[in-house]
Amino acid sequence: MSYKNALVIGFSLILVALSLQCQEIHGKEFLVGDEKGWSPYPGISDWPNGKNFTPGDVLIFKYDNTSTKVWQADFILPEYLKDCYETCETYFCAITEFNSGNDRVELREGENYFLSSGYDTCIKGFKLKICAEFDSKRKNCV
Ligand SMILES: *[C@@H]1O[C@H](CO)[C@@H](O)[C@H](O)[C@H]1NC(C)=O
Repeated sequence: MSYKNALVIGFSLILVALSLQCQEIHGKEFLVGDEKGWSPYPGISDWPNGKNFTPGDVLIFKYDNTSTKVWQADFILPEYLKDCYETCETYFCAITEFNSGNDRVELREGENYFLSSGYDTCIKGFKLKICAEFDSKRKNCV
């Protein structure tokens, strides 16, 4: 093996090691809606079913940002957050808007709520509820 080849292989191994390490730190990545993206297809709110989400995992929202956005719902009062999600009435919560069309959002521990921008689409089911828990506490997710 030439010196140059050894160097290339060495660097490749370092890159692989670094990228594995990044994955370790930043958690898994999930493309919301898979190939359909963040769009109002029937059943988008079931997309999280059967997946295990851990705090620090990243959701990637891909969509046409002229037709919708991503609203992450935070609580003003914790007991209102669920109402915000259920009713799509955003006066129950504080909204953080993502609007690039290719957003990366890190999951926090516990429930994470995402609404499509606008009452009309949200109330038809274009929204997501995702519970992120560490494995030891997985059963806290309902
Ligand atoms: C859509 O996203 C681009 C960046 O990706 C941004 O510059 C633009 O302002 C966004 N448009 C809307 C309507 O939010």
